[in-house]
Amino acid sequence: MPQPGHVLALDQGTTSSRAIVFRTPDLTAVATAQQEFPQHYPASGWVEHEPEDLWRSSLAVMREAVAKAGLRPADIAGIGIANQRETALVWDRRTGRPIHRAIVWQDRRTAGACAALREAGHAPAVAAATGLLIDPYFSATKIAWLLDEVPGAREAAERGELAFGTVDSFLLWRLTEGRAHATDATNACRTMLFDIHAGRWDPAMCELFRVPMPLLPEVRDCAAAFGTTDALGAPLPVLGIAGDQQAATVGQACFRPGMVKSTYGTGCFALLNTGDRPVVSGHRLLTTIAYQLDGRRTYALEGAIFVAGAAVQWLRDGLGLIRNAAESGALAARSDPRQRLYLVPAFVGLGVPYWDAEARGAIHGLTRASDPADFARAALESVGYQTRDLLTAMRSDTAGAPAAGVGREDAVLRVDGGMVASDWTMQFLADVLDAPVDRPVVRETTALGAAYLAGLQAAVCPQPDVFARSWRLERRFVPEMPGEAREAAYAGWRRAVRRTLSDIV
Ligand code: G3P
Repeated sequence: MPQPGHVLALDQGTTSSRAIVFRTPDLTAVATAQQEFPQHYPASGWVEHEPEDLWRSSLAVMREAVAKAGLRPADIAGIGIANQRETALVWDRRTGRPIHRAIVWQDRRTAGACAALREAGHAPAVAAATGLLIDPYFSATKIAWLLDEVPGAREAAERGELAFGTVDSFLLWRLTEGRAHATDATNACRTMLFDIHAGRWDPAMCELFRVPMPLLPEVRDCAAAFGTTDALGAPLPVLGIAGDQQAATVGQACFRPGMVKSTYGTGCFALLNTGDRPVVSGHRLLTTIAYQLDGRRTYALEGAIFVAGAAVQWLRDGLGLIRNAAESGALAARSDPRQRLYLVPAFVGLGVPYWDAEARGAIHGLTRASDPADFARAALESVGYQTRDLLTAMRSDTAGAPAAGVGREDAVLRVDGGMVASDWTMQFLADVLDAPVDRPVVRETTALGAAYLAGLQAAVCPQPDVFARSWRLERRFVPEMPGEAREAAYAGWRRAVRRTLSDIV
C-alpha cells in the first residue's frame, strides 16, 4: 500500500498559530497558513490568551494549509504539534470548557508566591528534581493561582473533575474530543512538577506547589501515538508533540552533544544539547529535556530571554518608529555610530542569568542627539547582548566537559525564527559573540521539527542521523568587529543591566 506522502505540522506560538504541510520524506514545505490572535493584558505584568482563540486559530490554519496543498486527510501520515510552552490551562473534563483564560508563560502574577517559596528555602529541591528555578515563568504557580482564584476549582480538581494542560495538551484534548489527555516529556519538564531524571510527575513537587495529581496529563515520548482526530474531515493520528523550542532543536538537527541553536521569536531561547547527561548550571541556566525518543531522554541547557522579537514589535506598535519588522535593520544601519544607546527590554522582567521578575525596561545613554535609528539599533543589539549573556553562561557551565561545550574551535550558533531574516541583526550577533552564526535554508525549524517527529513515528521519515544530513546552510555570518570595540560595547550592556535590576531601584 502506498504511504501517505505528507505530514502536517502545527506551530501554536505566543502571538500566532501556524500550520505547514510538508512533503515526505524530504520534508519540503508545500503549503502554509497563519493566524494571529489577540493578547490580553488585564494588569501590569499579566498576560492571558483566550483558549477558544488558541483552538479556533489552530483548527483554522490546519484546515487552510491542507486545502491550500490540495490534499485530502488520507494523503497525510499524521500531525505534529509544537507549542508555546509553560502557558497553563485548566478545563472541565466533562464539558471541555476552560475555567479561566490561559495564563501565558510571560505572565508575572505569581512573582510574590515564587519569592515566598524561594525564601522558604525550596529552591535546591526544585532545581534537583525539575532542573528549573522557582519563577513565575513555569506552569506550577500559575496552576495553583487558577485553583485558588476560580471559585470551587480546587475542590473540583481534588475530585478529579478538572484537567490541566499546556497548550499542546489542551489542543490534543479538543482534537480528540476528550479521548486523549496527554503531553510529551519536553512540555512536562516546563511545568516545575516533573522529575527530569526519572521521567515522571513528582509527587513532592505537586505537594509543594499544591497541584493535585489527578489534574495532570499522561506523559509520552515526543514521537508517539497521541490519539486520532476527526477535526479535519477524516481520522488523522497525532504522532508528534514537543515544546516549540525543543521542536526547533530537532528541526535544526542539534542531535549531537555540544550543538546549540537559538530561536528568535517573541523571546529568544538557546538550547545546548548535553546528551544523556543533565548538566547542572552554575549560572542559573535551565536544565531541560531536549527530546525523548524511544523512552530515552536527551538533555539540554537552556537560556531563556523573554523579549527579542517583542522589542521590534514595540518599535512598531508602541513607538510607531517602523511600519513592519523588516524595516528595523535598515533603520538601525542609519544610526550614528558615535551614539551608544542601550535598551534593556525587561518588559516582563529578565530571564537568564538575572532572573529578576520585578525588573522593568530601561533605556540608558540618551542624549539630545538620540533619534529613531538609535532606538532601532539599541533594540536589535539588545538581542545580541542577551544571547552573549546566555552563551557565556553555557560556555562556563560546560567548560570541564568539552564534548558538551560551546567553547570548541568549531562552536557555531544555529539560528532560526522571524528575526534572523535581518542580516544586520545576524551580523551584530556574530560580532558580539565573536563566533560564527549559521542561518539555515529552512527557517521554519519549529514546524519542521514537529513535522519530523510525526514523520519519524509514522515511519515516513529517516532516523535522526540521516535527517541531520539534510540540514542546509543558507548563510554563515562571521565576526568582523574589532575585539576592543566588541568588549567595550558589551561592558556597556552589562552596566546598563546592572542599573535596571529591581533591587537597585
Ligand atoms: O517558553 C516560551 C516559548 O515556548 C515561547 O515561544 O516562539 O511562542 O515565543 P514563542
